[in-house]
Amino acid sequence: MSSIKHALLAGVAVLPTTFAVTATLLASHFSGAVFTLSLTTGSNNTGSLAITSAAGGCGSTPTWLTYYSDTRKLYCVDESWQGYGTIAEYNVSTDGSLVVTGQALSTGNDVHGILYGGPDGRSFLATVEYTPSTLTAYKLPLTPGPNPPFTVPLQKETFYMAAPGPDVRQKDGPHPHEALLDPTGKFLLVPDLGADRIHVFAIDAPSGHLNACPDAFTAPGDGPRHGQWWSPTGNTLSANGLRLYTVNELGNSVTSWTASYSGGCLSLNRTQTISTFAGGKIPAATEYQGSSFPPKAAEVRIVGNNLYAANRNDKLFGNSTDSLATYNIDASGTLTFVEVTSAHGFYPRTFTVNKAGTMLAVGGQTSSSVAIIARDTTTGRLGNLIAWLQVGAQGTYTNEDGLSSVVWVE
Ligand SMILES: *[C@@H]1O[C@H](CO)[C@@H](O)[C@H](O)[C@H]1NC(C)=O
Ligand SMILES: *[C@@H]1O[C@H](CO)[C@@H](O)[C@H](O)[C@H]1NC(C)=O
Ligand SMILES: *[C@@H]1O[C@H](CO)[C@@H](O)[C@H](O)[C@H]1NC(C)=O
Ligand SMILES: *[C@@H]1O[C@H](CO)[C@@H](O)[C@H](O)[C@H]1NC(C)=O
Repeated sequence: MSSIKHALLAGVAVLPTTFAVTATLLASHFSGAVFTLSLTTGSNNTGSLAITSAAGGCGSTPTWLTYYSDTRKLYCVDESWQGYGTIAEYNVSTDGSLVVTGQALSTGNDVHGILYGGPDGRSFLATVEYTPSTLTAYKLPLTPGPNPPFTVPLQKETFYMAAPGPDVRQKDGPHPHEALLDPTGKFLLVPDLGADRIHVFAIDAPSGHLNACPDAFTAPGDGPRHGQWWSPTGNTLSANGLRLYTVNELGNSVTSWTASYSGGCLSLNRTQTISTFAGGKIPAATEYQGSSFPPKAAEVRIVGNNLYAANRNDKLFGNSTDSLATYNIDASGTLTFVEVTSAHGFYPRTFTVNKAGTMLAVGGQTSSSVAIIARDTTTGRLGNLIAWLQVGAQGTYTNEDGLSSVVWVE
């Protein structure tokens, strides 16, 4: 018997009986796979991650996962730059393995997708496409036909901008980055990194048709990417004190917005913008192969009265380790910066929090890793690294490869 096998058996033999599989996670990889991960945890915030299965079906470049726990359905969109892509719907089995239940043939370059409309909010799928600057809506079930090679969408909106924005990445047009519902499910919002605005659409629930409302504007050069809702009472269905927080990829900041409903539209007012770095000090860009790569904020999540934002390429915790920023939200919705802590990954493009609010799963894109980080539910502060695993092949610095999205199945 090899010494490695001896060591493995010895390791198994000494595992305390209190260790148990606590969670299943799904992680997409830009090389084409969607992995199922199993998290085992023990006492004192210790644990380990393992890959239990992998599936294809989401085209060449899976970029975003949206999971619905009520139906155990997973939706995956494809960032393929080849002019076509595949959107996939899966059943998530009890062991976490995936079964393809529907596919649509898209024009590719999708970066995000969400279900909306119909009697249950689950009848239509909206996706956004970064470079062709489009928002596309499909009626479910997803089918490749009836007009191959592309699924005929229910609606396609193309965004335009009158003049280039101030950032180098705002010269070539709008870049819609997320399809986000408001808490009532009656409006769809699209943060646009290229055009410095949030597009707002009123949803016609029966038909799935999206009707344009006036846009909300960020500051020039903010480059909004993703958003999250918050309410002082925890009830985001009440417009009283309701806030939207958006993370700005180009500005490396978070913006808060008040929201109000009137005249069949949702309107937003910008109230605060705060850096994702202590004192607003943005770490230096990395000069690499003749180009300059500044830090670029990626994701925002809210748990209770804490907001977290992910910084990519800030290298604040080592040559290949970036940070997560923690904020407190006071009763009026004002953010105060608390600290940055290690993201335990390089290019943390994606992170999600478990329902109990006790753990963050952080997906490092270039490290192609999933890190499980403890969260103190009383203080909101992030704690120790519980488990870490490289998932699929590592990415290459500054390229769109490696791990793309991670979600909890619970
Ligand atoms: C729990 O973890 C902390 C921090 O890693 C460590 O100092 C402490 O010794 C651990 N306690 C036990 C009982 O393992
Ligand atoms: C997917 O799950 C639904 C609901 O449980 C079930 O009716 C359906 O047969 C499943 N489809 C496949 C292909 O397993
Ligand atoms: C936004 O601000 C304007 C001007 O201060 C005000 O008239 C409007 O009611 C505000 N809207 C919201 C949603 O707070
Ligand atoms: C820093 O990381 C890059 C990849 O991101 C690697 O190519 C380089 O060798 C590293 N430098 C050092 C000093 O470790």
